[in-house]
Amino acid sequence: MGNSLLTYPCPTGMEEGNKEFIISSMNQQNFSNHLMSVGKAVHDHLDTLLNSNARDIPEPLLLAMRHGLLNGGKRLRPFLLIESAALFGVSQQQAMQTACALECLHSYSLIHDDLPAMDDDDMRRGMPTVHKAFDEATAILAGDALLTFAFELITVEGNHRDPSVRAELATRLAKAAGASGMIGGQMLDIIAETTQLKEEEIRTLQKMKTGALLQYALEAGAILGNAPPKDRNNIIRYGEVIGLAFQLSDDLLDVTSNAKAMGKAVRKDADRGKATIVALFGIDKTQALLKQLSIQAINCLESFDQSADLLRQTAEYISLRKS
Ligand code: IPE
Ligand code: IPE
Ligand code: MG
Ligand code: MG
Ligand code: MG
Repeated sequence: MGNSLLTYPCPTGMEEGNKEFIISSMNQQNFSNHLMSVGKAVHDHLDTLLNSNARDIPEPLLLAMRHGLLNGGKRLRPFLLIESAALFGVSQQQAMQTACALECLHSYSLIHDDLPAMDDDDMRRGMPTVHKAFDEATAILAGDALLTFAFELITVEGNHRDPSVRAELATRLAKAAGASGMIGGQMLDIIAETTQLKEEEIRTLQKMKTGALLQYALEAGAILGNAPPKDRNNIIRYGEVIGLAFQLSDDLLDVTSNAKAMGKAVRKDADRGKATIVALFGIDKTQALLKQLSIQAINCLESFDQSADLLRQTAEYISLRKS
């Protein structure tokens, strides 16, 4: 087990790096401000999109959708999508609708994740979960509606002039969110409550339940920017590593943080007896592992110039984040 930290493979197959973080002059505070400002733009656009589609939506459903979608959240997935697109010459405005679609899908996954039949949580993003604020049936429907809305936003003509780009964005999202991606990961996560999983199996679970959507954020940017295959592969590999890192930090914060900072209950993994890397190795080793993953993620960006500095900074942010 002690060895495991040293042999945790970089999903890219690249050699593990020893480099300390070499990032632009932007410090963590500036980075957080930037993330917040993109998050605000995403929030405002989500609000507009929902409003302009609100006319035929029954009121309780619309209110529940708004509650689950416009209730804060770091907006990390749309941020990554927008930053990846920027790397390939696509403006924030051009990437925004796809970014919002991804956030709709993510918010649906949280609404369903919190249901009594799943993690049974009462608080999300500092507010009552959707099934608490409304009821279970409405929460299920609000999740379903956000999932389908995500695909409408991506495939609608106004999203991108090239239908093959829209089709590729939709197919890749379906794959990432589906049975061999996020949903499959959620199934493994339920199994992990009653089964002792090995490190390798937990890594697969993390890769699927959380990594798949984060990775999609990066890939979607490359699709929108028609990136050359080599660049697209590198950015996808980066997405894979930060996906693992992000769930690792979520599991760590579940042990080390508090409900106020997180906006959701903590200690819930241990309470439910969930197999996690933290449960397997403890806090210190998991923290070391997380830092190592961040360095690996930064190494995946080696072929990009300073225009990828924000993504480098994101890898550092994920390993240092407190909420
Ligand atoms: C929480 O995701 C669920 C996980 C996949 C770990 P986030 O930590 O991105 O949640 P929000 O969107 O900021 O609320
Ligand atoms: C949620 O993972 C992953 C998805 C919603 C796909 P968690 O169950 O660990 O997320 P939190 O801790 O409730 O945010
Ligand atoms: Mg869960
Ligand atoms: Mg949960
Ligand atoms: Mg969690």
